[in-house]
Amino acid sequence: MLLLSFAYTLLSTFIVSYALPALDSPTTGEVITSLPEAEIAKFRPYSYYASTGNCNPSLTRNWTCGTNCEANPTFEPVASGGDGDKVQFWFVGYDPTLDTVVVSHQGTDFSKIKPVLTDIDLDLRELDSGLFRGVSQSVKVHHGFRDAHARAFTRSVFQHPVLKILSSFKDSSGAAIALLDSVFLALHLPNVVFKTVVYAMPRVGNQAFANYVDEHLHDLRHINNKRDPVPILPGMFLGYHQPSGEIHIGDDDVWYVCPGQDNTSELCSTGAVRDVLNSRPGDHVGPFNGAIMTC
Ligand SMILES: *[C@@H]1O[C@H](CO)[C@@H](O)[C@H](O)[C@H]1NC(C)=O
Ligand SMILES: *[C@@H]1O[C@H](CO)[C@@H](O)[C@H](O)[C@H]1NC(C)=O
Repeated sequence: MLLLSFAYTLLSTFIVSYALPALDSPTTGEVITSLPEAEIAKFRPYSYYASTGNCNPSLTRNWTCGTNCEANPTFEPVASGGDGDKVQFWFVGYDPTLDTVVVSHQGTDFSKIKPVLTDIDLDLRELDSGLFRGVSQSVKVHHGFRDAHARAFTRSVFQHPVLKILSSFKDSSGAAIALLDSVFLALHLPNVVFKTVVYAMPRVGNQAFANYVDEHLHDLRHINNKRDPVPILPGMFLGYHQPSGEIHIGDDDVWYVCPGQDNTSELCSTGAVRDVLNSRPGDHVGPFNGAIMTC
């Protein structure tokens, strides 16, 4: 369940559309702030686009998927695909209201992603040096997400560089792949500024990776719901860390802006969930702005 979106101008120069709330420099505040209703509402189209990623391509192709599609009525679909099995569903298109290109992939429920995140083999591995040329070898990620991203890249039939990374694979977290997509795009399209909104993202890589993401993706928001266990997996004791940019929906339905990486405040995922035994796997699918991550 993820969303990668960006707006573009001519001549392959991309610009961000400033549809997302501008958050007050969150790293300096001394308290966790909450988002006002009007700012929460700005995420609504993205939440529904992420949810729509779970719909069959036959429905997203002509935008006839019911509630999810109707939530973004002006959307112009361009392409969609995936089989929901080996290749997760995805779609891409243009939203004239937001003036944004939207790319969305299918997510997975907790029962499917759990084996990946609690895998016996959680060793952190270097990124593919061909795809991520120039990135320090100290930057390491979960091998499953790395390999799924690499497979998606090489198997893609798309010619456009942005569209080459659209498909991802069964039992891979859509959000993890989206984050790697964004890191990849930032590296290969250096003049492009785009934003990434992901939902219920697991920890993808090590401290160096989290720092790399903070440095290179300036508009990342990862939104987590209540006591979803996925954002606290794999554990920090295994060397995994989240990048900055968390927004955590508390049990009180307030959207908290969580500064820094893995903020341990009980208003943020790391502090609220603490360990898997204290989690609620059902929270993984939302709701986010009323959207449940199913089709
Ligand atoms: C959309 O596509 C589906 C299946 O491909 C088809 O049954 C339906 O009639 C189409 N609807 C519209 C409005 O084009
Ligand atoms: C969590 O957020 C608080 C409030 O802004 C901040 O003071 C603290 O440094 C943050 N903790 C971490 C680990 O980033």
